[in-house]
Amino acid sequence: MKRDFLDLSSITADDLNRLLALAIRLKGENKAGFEHPLLRGKTLAMLFQKPSLRTRMTFETGMAQLGGHAIYIAPQDIGIGERESVKDVARNLSRWVDLIMIRTFAHETCVELAREASVPVINGLTDMLHPCQLLADLMTLREHRGPDLRKLRVAFVGDGFNMAQSWIEAAALAGFELRIACPAGYEPQKSFVERMRREKLGILTKDPVEAVKDADAVYTDTWTSMGQEKESAKRRRDFKGFQVNRELLKHARRDALVMHCLPAHRGEEITDEVIDGAQSVVLDEAENRLHAQKAVMVWLVKPEILSVMAPA
Ligand code: CP
Ligand code: NVA
Repeated sequence: MKRDFLDLSSITADDLNRLLALAIRLKGENKAGFEHPLLRGKTLAMLFQKPSLRTRMTFETGMAQLGGHAIYIAPQDIGIGERESVKDVARNLSRWVDLIMIRTFAHETCVELAREASVPVINGLTDMLHPCQLLADLMTLREHRGPDLRKLRVAFVGDGFNMAQSWIEAAALAGFELRIACPAGYEPQKSFVERMRREKLGILTKDPVEAVKDADAVYTDTWTSMGQEKESAKRRRDFKGFQVNRELLKHARRDALVMHCLPAHRGEEITDEVIDGAQSVVLDEAENRLHAQKAVMVWLVKPEILSVMAPA
């Protein structure tokens, strides 16, 4: 049966370890100048219903480095669900390409595409989850803090949207403590909040200082996500006090990592001095998108390669 990569809840801790091991290996080989055309002759279709810098660049570059080919499909190109149903798009693409990546609004669109496609589907961000970003983030944490993520305390300060929800899935999978601070009305969806409580993954608070206290990593995301632009003035008011700045960072560990999925709205959720400061690893996260997604693509198209990888 084909596999998809839509969320982190459908993979095991062993899958995660093997994926990260492969990503780290591919990164090392790439930096040493070794080619690894593991997907030669394969094609990835990339369906975008929202803008992107990192996701597009890293999937397209990653596929080129693996010897394959990626095709970018812009939001207006195929009118998924409008010009043509999700089901018809999925069934047509499955006759031509080996992999599909989709960035869309409703998570259900991504799930439906995966259900109807006979080739693997990758979630490149929905309003619910951004699992590719989390893989790169966990890889970055490992590079800076070693392989045992369970001993870490991660603080998320900001909107309880797709990134916060992805961190809840990641905490459940990797076993670190997660402390989320959101303003009232911007908490993650109920099922995610319940999961956090049920599985004792950490705390959910309205107090950024409480979340950040003694954290090993402090993560934030934009207050206005793609598709929410009309709410940006209200959001700037509602998120007042939730900025990751030097003052807030004082409550974290002295060497806490500063993380952000990007794009950043500098001066809103994070200050220039913090995102550009010595503790910031945001460019490592962006770089690791490339290597983590190469690992995911190899895993989905040639799972036998991952099965022989030793967990990192
Ligand atoms: N972090 C991230 O997914 O960036 P893009 O929106 O630029 O793809
Ligand atoms: N929450 C942001 C993440 C961007 C990578 C958005 O959905 O726009």
